Amino acid sequence: MAVCCRLRPDVATRKLRGARVLVTGASSGIGRALAVQLVAAGARVIVTARREAELQQLAADLEAGTDCLAIAGDITSPEHRLQLLRGCESWGGLDLLINNAGIGAIGPFRESDAERLRQVMEVNFFAPIELTRLLLPILQRGDRPTVVLIGSVLALAAVPLKSEYCASKHALHGWAESVGPELRQAGIELLEVHPSTTASEFFTKVLGDPSQQRSLGAMTPEVAATHILRAIRRGRRQAVFPLAGQALVALRRWCPPLFRWVTRPQ
Ligand SMILES: NC(=O)c1ccc[n+]([C@@H]2O[C@H](COP(=O)([O-])OP(=O)(O)OC[C@H]3O[C@@H](n4cnc5c(N)ncnc54)[C@H](OP(=O)(O)O)[C@@H]3O)[C@@H](O)[C@H]2O)c1
Repeated sequence: MAVCCRLRPDVATRKLRGARVLVTGASSGIGRALAVQLVAAGARVIVTARREAELQQLAADLEAGTDCLAIAGDITSPEHRLQLLRGCESWGGLDLLINNAGIGAIGPFRESDAERLRQVMEVNFFAPIELTRLLLPILQRGDRPTVVLIGSVLALAAVPLKSEYCASKHALHGWAESVGPELRQAGIELLEVHPSTTASEFFTKVLGDPSQQRSLGAMTPEVAATHILRAIRRGRRQAVFPLAGQALVALRRWCPPLFRWVTRPQ
């Protein structure tokens, strides 16, 4: 398996200056850091999440004026996704869609319920793929259009006690592998990003008992965002980071018994 592969190693890197970008889940963590770094690189950014105050604060912090548009709403709502489309249309197009919004869940599956499973799948799987479907026509008219999916190392190496989360990220990964060639035929690139543990609000908002969470060696959202923008600039199709995340995926592939022992429930 190619943990990290370049699309065209000899091609000049993709420029972010002037790119019109939509970032979901931008009110905190990786999404917020992405928005900050994108604007610093000269991109124009539409940011979205449910918490309007955080989005407005972000827009104010960026001091980017018209280069940052905040549209608050729930990404699982079709009406909100239509609002995002209208926001992109008001900019005359979209070059980069970053599907980042996500939620975690932890705990034994037998103690969970259908509502929690549905919530995780709605946010982590149905919302990003339906948003992508909705925005495909406007992306097709963009400059080097690219769809980015923020997955997880757990999309490639499932661990115990995170069954709903792993299922949602595996589903996203499977969808990406199938739809990628179809999108490329239509002139749209697809990049799957698989970060490892990142110190963000993710762990305080996780559905279930956060005390069951083991988060060793977390990177900061800023470091994660830097990895993601580097992968975009280089035209990669998949990026797994940091090294510890790559090691976990390699262990799962090459030595499943050791992987199971390392990730066994405590
Ligand atoms: N943290 C990690 O260790 C880690 C590791 C691998 C992958 N990831 C992935 O990275 C992505 C970002 O996570 P993060 O670590 O930055 O966590 P975070 O700080 O909790 O950010 C999650 C973002 O998603 C938004 N969001 C959640 N539910 C939403 C909904 N229904 N509608 C609209 N927006 C919603 C949140 O905003 P509102 O609450 O304001 O709506 C927030 O902006 C997620 O896809 C996550 O699965 C995280």
